[in-house]
Amino acid sequence: MISLKNHFIFIPLSTMNLKNDLILRAARGEELERYPVWLMRQAGRILPEYRSVRASLSGFKELVETPERAAEVTIQPVDILDVDAAIIFSDILVVPEAMGLPYEMIEKSGPYFKNVVRNENDLIKVEFQFDVEDRLSYVFEAIKIANKELGGRVPLIGFAGAPWTILCYMVEGRGSKTFSESRKLLYTNPILAHELLNRISLVTIAYLKQQIKAGAHMVQIFDSWAGILGADQYREFGLKYIEKIVDSIKDVPVTVFSKGAISSLNEICELNCNTVGLDWNMNISKVREMIGETKTIQGNLDPCALYGSHSEIEQSTISLMNSFSSKRHIVNLGHGVYPDIDPEKVKTFIKTVKNYELHF
Ligand code: CP3
Repeated sequence: MISLKNHFIFIPLSTMNLKNDLILRAARGEELERYPVWLMRQAGRILPEYRSVRASLSGFKELVETPERAAEVTIQPVDILDVDAAIIFSDILVVPEAMGLPYEMIEKSGPYFKNVVRNENDLIKVEFQFDVEDRLSYVFEAIKIANKELGGRVPLIGFAGAPWTILCYMVEGRGSKTFSESRKLLYTNPILAHELLNRISLVTIAYLKQQIKAGAHMVQIFDSWAGILGADQYREFGLKYIEKIVDSIKDVPVTVFSKGAISSLNEICELNCNTVGLDWNMNISKVREMIGETKTIQGNLDPCALYGSHSEIEQSTISLMNSFSSKRHIVNLGHGVYPDIDPEKVKTFIKTVKNYELHF
């Protein structure tokens, strides 16, 4: 605690020893010498080094649940790609699993839940009053190890899925193009949907707080399926719960990434978060007009731009940054990096951001 006359500023000990805190300064709207850059899904299949750790284990879940190995792949993109932040290697699906719905990650297909929530009977099985610190201890342990091994080189980002996206997996039981079972529930049994969303929110708040206690320097909420709801439904079943979460997180910067929620951007910008993540269909200048200097914008190069040549990547990255009319930016893609992107192309993206001179 540092005392400035009568004001008390809480600076978590862990942030005081960071060698590169650009992303935290960007999130808080402070002075920057250049834009920070990282990639959603940077810890994953784009790196051969990740694939070899993954191949040495029985599968994705063993990697997620083995803190030393999860920490190892968390740090790989910092060592190899030179990003300005690490993101803890885990998955949004550890939350529904902790709530009593175990998942499997099926090769080339994706997540699969044997039990799903479709009615009141199913809801009985959905736990929300349990010791999060104990049940998800492997995530907090991975955060501690990753920070120790990073030695303060860059901040570590914690994350969770937004309640709506987690509901989608709990109801559907697997990925889907339409998530029509989940959307059906909003019409046929909105009370059940609200009860489920409420339970997910309570667990998510406790989960993010524990990640912060373990050493996460900032947190991001991923609402990957925000865009499948219209604005009214997203307000009622999406934003209402994200609001509860962001209002409960006090000590570190919070990013909200609601993919595809174009018609709700004005309401997203009113949330009590530091940073709004934009996908590549969202217009940065329009969002900047809405928020002025009150928030940081993260994004939003089209992930497919990284299939271009090195010089095309340089050009699209520079023109993205030329479109900024403020310093308050964290450069990223508009969604996760695709697994077949050449890591050399990712390096070009990162170098271009790092070499760019701020024009403010
Ligand atoms: O960003 C990072 O590098 C950290 C790790 C991370 C993973 N998943 C690892 C992962 C993060 C932040 C996530 C978030 C996540 N997981 C989201 C939200 C972000 C988004 O992409 O919209 C969602 C919707 C999930 C659920 C999920 N996990 C799906 C649908 C799949 C299968 C599809 C796929 O990408 O393979 C996963 C698997 C997954 N999560 C992998 C990784 C590295 C690939 C699994 C493997 O190694 O075989």
